[in-house]
Amino acid sequence: MESKIISILSKMTVEEKISLCSGRDLWNLEYFEEYGVPKIQMCDGPHGLRKRLKNEKGEYYGVKATCFPSAATMANSWDTELVRRVGEYIGDECRAEQISILLGPGINIKRAPNCGRNFEYYSEDPYLSGKMASGFIRGVQSRGIATCAKHFCVNNQETRRFTTSANVSERALHEIYLTPFEIAVKEANVQAIMHSYNRVNGKYVSERGELVTDLLRKKWGFNGYVMSDWWAMSDRVAAYKAGVDVEMPSSGGVRDREVLEAYKKGEISIEQIDASVANILRVVLGHLPSEGAAPYDVEEHHLAAAKAAEECMVLLKNEGGILPLASGKPLAVIGRFAKCPRIQGGGSSHVEPNKVDDITEFIANENKYDITYADGYDENHETTDTLISEAVNAARKCGRAVIFAGMPGSYETEGRDRRHMKLPPAHNALIEAVSAACDKVVVVLMAGSPNEMPWIHKVPALLHAYLGGQALGGAVARILFGKVNPCGKLAETYPLRFEDNPAYINFPGNGDNCLYGEDIYVGYRYYDKRKMDVLFPFGYGLSYTKFEYTSINVQENTVKVTVKNVGDRAGKEVVQLYVGCDRHPYTYTFVGMSAHGYDRAERSLIGFEKVHLEAGEEKTVEFPLQDRFFSVYDEDLGDFKKIGGDYELYAGGSSRDLPLCTKIAVEESTSLPVCIAKNMTFEDILLNKSIPSDIAESFIRSVLAPKLVAKLDELGFSFDNPVLRRKRDSVLRQSVGSRLTPGQLDELIDAANAEIEKRVQNDGK
Ligand code: BGC
Repeated sequence: MESKIISILSKMTVEEKISLCSGRDLWNLEYFEEYGVPKIQMCDGPHGLRKRLKNEKGEYYGVKATCFPSAATMANSWDTELVRRVGEYIGDECRAEQISILLGPGINIKRAPNCGRNFEYYSEDPYLSGKMASGFIRGVQSRGIATCAKHFCVNNQETRRFTTSANVSERALHEIYLTPFEIAVKEANVQAIMHSYNRVNGKYVSERGELVTDLLRKKWGFNGYVMSDWWAMSDRVAAYKAGVDVEMPSSGGVRDREVLEAYKKGEISIEQIDASVANILRVVLGHLPSEGAAPYDVEEHHLAAAKAAEECMVLLKNEGGILPLASGKPLAVIGRFAKCPRIQGGGSSHVEPNKVDDITEFIANENKYDITYADGYDENHETTDTLISEAVNAARKCGRAVIFAGMPGSYETEGRDRRHMKLPPAHNALIEAVSAACDKVVVVLMAGSPNEMPWIHKVPALLHAYLGGQALGGAVARILFGKVNPCGKLAETYPLRFEDNPAYINFPGNGDNCLYGEDIYVGYRYYDKRKMDVLFPFGYGLSYTKFEYTSINVQENTVKVTVKNVGDRAGKEVVQLYVGCDRHPYTYTFVGMSAHGYDRAERSLIGFEKVHLEAGEEKTVEFPLQDRFFSVYDEDLGDFKKIGGDYELYAGGSSRDLPLCTKIAVEESTSLPVCIAKNMTFEDILLNKSIPSDIAESFIRSVLAPKLVAKLDELGFSFDNPVLRRKRDSVLRQSVGSRLTPGQLDELIDAANAEIEKRVQNDGK
């Protein structure tokens, strides 16, 4: 491959090379068949193929494809193998349609529950997002189709998406927002990365060489091409210098001329241009259109989409064992969504489905008895007294009802955020009225993000179907009637109120500045830290059976968790592992930091596995531990740093139901090079493991007043000594004045540093 690339490069003029770095049109990269650079087409995904063709009038239309569950839905499966299989099916559809590159998955973090594009993203948790994305990428790429992870990075809102600046700390940037991309690059070898529209800390991502080149390519080893989101580039030359290889779509040659001009002025070198062309060719030549690929079996793919949907729906409430429903009895089915379901979100990911299930048919089939259907609300999601009373009468007549409600398509679409977390008033009114008239009510929700549920205490059962794709009908019916045991778990937290969410006061920002004030406390990390009640926690989901967590232990860097199905039917459980460090919020620095203390999340997800268990069966799941799980991003170091200390490992079935816990002691990995400085606190010196304790002690004694030293002698030199406790936050320079001159302090510091240096050298020998 590399020699072929070198040979192609040797034949191309600089103008041709530059033009290869921008699209030919809306969906195709530029091509030069005479040099062996073929035409290849990209298409949106990610939950199905969105191939666009032009009709005789030159208007675009969508080619039919299988609409699989959206990313927000797939994440509820917590099943990387399932996501991989769905990726394979989508990859096969790409092959059948001669598509080389699929524009997905979307792996941005769900920072606020009202971001209009959340349905396209996996989770509020970076680890879960990264693992799901990797599964999907592996599946699609196993079919010879490249994927493109998007939108790199910190693209968490649609409001002013072309101009807004995500103002985020380095720590949150690396620990939360970049981690899914890192996993996609390192674990799944994603072939392309799409940079986002927004700016990060004031500068467009496309112009941030430290992200696009230093991090992505040099540190993580990304080997494919970086491409702009559509019309995302603000300054082509600056983006070129930063390392963005492709601009999409075509600029009609305008930007190419700018790049050529910059090249002629010596601002861009031929080496840079060649490197970009090589990045593009590596992907293009490795993903040629699969001419003559067999058409896919539409029915087989529909069934696969149904199977996927079954694994993703989340049973959120089931009181009095109302579910599964018994068949052979009257049943009211209420809500237009039962006939015209919400299957996906809007915008560039919108797939033209091959067909869409009418859920009522599947329910009637499972019920084996006539069902009574009522609309409940109209196509505009409004209701009337008549529609409500028809629904109430149907529920009364049948004695039990399933209500289909959720968010209309207009609520969840690219380019627009919501200003609330509510369902349409008509849906709420319908649920209130029917549940007041009938006790046996099951609500089935369809939406790709959390909602407030003012009626939650009035309905005994709630199944969340999320956005289940074109084949959700059979999946819903089979779960309602118990043919399938629900096994989805929420990949995001449902707060009680919109106002509770971590981004509430900073979303969508002031003008073009959006402060990520919650820092690393995104999703459950925030609710846990603030000890807040939530409606449904991250990781939560019920089953028709029961699981008991029986043991946890750590052996040689592997955590073993045993779980048993103690119910009377087979089911699947998502075993979740979290790490936490039990620290009082004001004493978090007492952990041996080099120079600074870090606040830590109460718990962070570090492992999960979905296991199938027959009734009575027990299984042990193993989770390998990695240094990263105990690390924080250290801004001074510019890297992750493992922090030593005592940690807890928690296992269970949701972030708020973790019956097993074990403690482990973790050794600090590296320490920052130490140098005592006048702006360090006493604590910084005493707790820094890389300052030998005898040197730290004699230095501290030398800067303290004799009276305090005497007190130290009396009570013993330890951090519990009230003298040192009081001095903890004092800065060395404050010793100057009554006792020490600035020069004397400098001398003492220099002497101590020389001592440390000597010790380091001796230890190294
Ligand atoms: C979206 C991308 C999409 C692209 C091409 C943009 O508006 O943000 O996710 O891949 O359009 O349709």
